[in-house]
Amino acid sequence: MSSSSAQLIYQGKTLNLPVLSGSDGPDVLDIRELYSSLNLFTYDPGFTVTANCESKITFIDGEDGRLLYRGYPIQQLAEHSDFMEVSYLLLYGNLPNITEKEKFVSCVTRHGMVHEQIRNFYGGFRRDAHPMAIMVGVVGALSAFYHDSLDIKDPRQREIASYRLLAKMPTLAAMAYKYSLGQPFVYPQNSLGYSANFLRMMFAVPCEDYIVNPVLAKAMDRILILHADHEQNASTATVRLAGSSGANPFACIAAGIAALWGPAHGGANEAVLNMLSEIGDVSRIPEYIKRAKDKNDPFRLMGFGHRVYKNYDPRAAVMRESCYEVLNEMGVKNDPLLVLALELERIALEDEYFISKKLYPNVDFYSGIIFKAMGIPASMFTVIFALARTVGWVAQWMEMIADPLQKIGRPRQLYQGVVERNYTEINKRV
Ligand code: CMC
Repeated sequence: MSSSSAQLIYQGKTLNLPVLSGSDGPDVLDIRELYSSLNLFTYDPGFTVTANCESKITFIDGEDGRLLYRGYPIQQLAEHSDFMEVSYLLLYGNLPNITEKEKFVSCVTRHGMVHEQIRNFYGGFRRDAHPMAIMVGVVGALSAFYHDSLDIKDPRQREIASYRLLAKMPTLAAMAYKYSLGQPFVYPQNSLGYSANFLRMMFAVPCEDYIVNPVLAKAMDRILILHADHEQNASTATVRLAGSSGANPFACIAAGIAALWGPAHGGANEAVLNMLSEIGDVSRIPEYIKRAKDKNDPFRLMGFGHRVYKNYDPRAAVMRESCYEVLNEMGVKNDPLLVLALELERIALEDEYFISKKLYPNVDFYSGIIFKAMGIPASMFTVIFALARTVGWVAQWMEMIADPLQKIGRPRQLYQGVVERNYTEINKRV
């Protein structure tokens, strides 16, 4: 894999650093010998140029705005595939044939129910708890229920844990929503597809029939596909770091949910909708653009910018299309939030600040508008992101556990604190 090397000269010593080439993307400098040979660490806050692992799952070309799952462009998967198939692809590396798909769907479907005692956890939360707070708790709590899939050294137990996580996330997410409404929990319905089942658990009530709208189920499925994985983002890196210590998969995914919650990551979809509501009218856009550009104002245009994409996020383009489909289906013509979002996007994309910094709309810019049209409250947006990303987290966790080079994650630091000094008695301190 090492095709060439780079030379580093430091304090009269020369070190040859191998340069590793992946199947796509920039080459990578292998610095593993740096400390033992030159007594040097590297400094890279936010891991902006640091590869933490080898991976075969997802590839992003941020300059060209390309996203591939196992080699397949996201646009093709969003158009032709479904979330179960994409989940299989992420977990196993290839698209399933008919038999493989049937078996996989059947296994996942049959793990959809949660232990009845898990219901008790919900009762311990305040009704107005943020559903992400509930998710961090109840997903971590799964480790207390499924002891037969906690041995991470056993590939079969790892696989069962992955089915459980994938299958139970919609149930747990819908329960968090129902709890906030004070409505009864709805059990999964195995005759329905993954997304339709989730919508039913969110919106059905025991006193009347609930027919899932196929357009909305399709749109939800597409949203799940678009969010399913995104290589080494903050939450995935968190799942890998937690998993590197040997923690069980349920605990690792709970850690990923916590990392996803922040507004710079998965929480951005909720923040976009709040921002659009706050702007309120197209006439106020210039004021907010001005604020976003002001270094002394912490305000940022939510749903804009990305660590990796320096071009239009390919997921945002698909999301924009889905947005029209859903709004049409719901009979929401000229939705004021969409009008506002389109105008904000237009103005920002013509603004020198956003152009020069290559700040484009990201996946979160349009998802909130679709969710809102579906009747999903803003507090659930990030939960749905977590539900979709679970398969990516699990695939990355599985890949890490099976990697012979895997080590506990343990970053170093540039210490800037006080150097060693002696303890002084309290009466001698100034
Ligand atoms: N509005 C205004 N200015 C921005 C924005 C924005 N949304 N995003 C970045 N900038 C500026 C930033 O101030 C900085 O300027 P300067 O170089 O003068 O200091 C420059 O652009 C580079 O930004 P950065 O913060 O150094 O870039 P980053 O890679 O550390 O941050 C980001 C990436 C996504 C956290 C950031 O763009 C952001 O906060 N965006 C808004 C939140 C958002 O939409 N997040 C969702 C990301 S996509 C889904 C996901 O990953 O979960």
